Amino acid sequence: MATTSMLKAIFLCLLISAAAASAPRGRKPHSRPPCQQLVFYFHDILYNGHNYENATSAIIGSPQWANKTTVATPFNFGDLVAFDDPITLDNNLHSRPVGRAQGMYLYDQKSIYGAWLSFSFLFNSTDYVGTLNFAGADPLMNKTRDISVIGGTGDFFMARGVATLSTDSFEGDVYFRLRVEINLYECW
Ligand SMILES: *[C@@H]1O[C@H](CO)[C@@H](O)[C@H](O)[C@H]1NC(C)=O
Ligand SMILES: *[C@@H]1O[C@H](CO)[C@@H](O)[C@H](O)[C@H]1NC(C)=O
Ligand SMILES: *[C@@H]1O[C@H](CO)[C@@H](O)[C@H](O)[C@H]1NC(C)=O
Ligand SMILES: *[C@@H]1O[C@H](CO)[C@@H](O)[C@H](O)[C@H]1NC(C)=O
Repeated sequence: MATTSMLKAIFLCLLISAAAASAPRGRKPHSRPPCQQLVFYFHDILYNGHNYENATSAIIGSPQWANKTTVATPFNFGDLVAFDDPITLDNNLHSRPVGRAQGMYLYDQKSIYGAWLSFSFLFNSTDYVGTLNFAGADPLMNKTRDISVIGGTGDFFMARGVATLSTDSFEGDVYFRLRVEINLYECW
C-alpha cells in the first residue's frame, strides 16, 4: 500500500514538472496571427451641467472634494463615469452607429491620467449582432493602450483577445474619441 501511494506521488511529481517544463515562460507576442481583426471608434460626450441633450456619459461618483459636473483635480482622480456611447466605423461622430459602447471608467491614478475600464460593445447592425466585453487598465498618457477582450456573445460567442486603444481626438474635458483595434485570438 505504502509503496503504491509513494509511486503515485512520484508519478504525480514527474507529471507536474513535465508540464512546468513545457509551459511557456513568458508571453510570446504574436506567436500566431489573430483570427479576426476589427476597428471601431467610439465617441464620449461628458455631461458638464449644460449639455444634457448631447451628453453620452456622466460622472456618477466623485471624491468628497469635487462634484459631478466638473472632473476632479488632480487628474480626474476618483471620478467614476457611466457611459452609453455610439460606436462608428469611421471617426465621424455623426456617422450611422453600428452599436453602443456601454459601461464605466474609473479614474484611479492620482499622479498621472489613468483609468480602469469595464465596458461592453453591443452590436445590433446588419454587420454584427452580439456583444464583446472589455476590461483593463487605461494609462491615458500612453499613445496606445492594450486592454483585454474577455469574452463575447452572439456573433462573438466565446471570443477572446486584446484591444488596442488610442485617443483619436479630445476636446477639453467634454469630448473624446477612442480608436479601438480589436485583435481576437479565439474565435468560434
Ligand atoms: C449638441 O450637438 C449639436 C451637433 O453637434 C451642436 O450643434 C450643439 O451645439 C450641441 N449642443 C450642446 C448643448 O452641446
Ligand atoms: C464643481 O466644481 C467646480 C470646480 O471646483 C466648480 O467650478 C463648480 O462651480 C462646481 N459646480 C457645482 C455645481 O458645485
Ligand atoms: C435589434 O434590431 C432589430 C431590428 O432593427 C430589432 O427588432 C431588435 O429589437 C434589436 N434588438 C436589440 C436588443 O436592440
Ligand atoms: C504603456 O506604455 C509603456 C511604455 O511604452 C508600455 O510598457 C506599457 O505596456 C503600456 N501599457 C499598456 C497598458 O498598454
